[in-house]
Amino acid sequence: MKIFKFNEVESTQKIAKNILKENLSEEFIVIAEKQTNGYGRHGRKWHSPKGGIYATIVLKAFKGNLNLISQAAALAVRKAINRICQINAKVKWPNDIIVNNRKIGGIISEAIIVGNKPKHLIIGIGVNVNIGREQLPPELREKATSTLIEAGRNFNIEEILNEIIRNLVEYKKLLEKNRDSKILKEWRRHDIILGRKVRIINKKEIVGYANDINCNGALILKCLDGKEIEIYAEEVKIKIE
Ligand code: BTN
Repeated sequence: MKIFKFNEVESTQKIAKNILKENLSEEFIVIAEKQTNGYGRHGRKWHSPKGGIYATIVLKAFKGNLNLISQAAALAVRKAINRICQINAKVKWPNDIIVNNRKIGGIISEAIIVGNKPKHLIIGIGVNVNIGREQLPPELREKATSTLIEAGRNFNIEEILNEIIRNLVEYKKLLEKNRDSKILKEWRRHDIILGRKVRIINKKEIVGYANDINCNGALILKCLDGKEIEIYAEEVKIKIE
């Protein structure tokens, strides 16, 4: 896959969309050492100083279940951090990567839709790697972490990124072969919220037990009245009770 490398960009997501618009490539990766306007889900800012992984992977829509691609990407990051940094990384629905209850990375996946059908998937990956606690803004110090904070040493960013890409390619192959259950199984093993009481924050709030995720990537929430409902990631924020 072609790689477009930058020292500094506003957002690798934005660059990826421009490359697609200009028809320069169909499947590629954009990486940057830092971002001045990186963004996450719900339009939140993604703090992006030098020392992190900021990558956008663009894939052509493929045959198979596209709904699990952001979970696949989160699992790809989890596995890479575990292997290379020897850190016990977990995931949190919908697609956060968590270490010691703090967020170490996140995924945002967007799609280019043409005539009702997805044509390209734009998968944004942010991981805090060589970022010290003092480099995190004060409001994130309790909520976020990095591989440096957790392991006490620096890592080779390229090595982690290559491993993430390798893992993601493997998970994508599973989706192409309709082996979604393998991804779901792995997700269930590593998601910190499954089985726990959570608060889903939308226009209104719902409390319930996070029971499972399904092949649409939706969370199955067992409400306090016993009813089970599907929760879709785009709509909500989630807090562990
Ligand atoms: C989230 O947890 O809300 C997702 C964060 C995704 C951040 C990455 S960093 C690389 C890519 N470029 C962006 O502007 N955002 C994503």
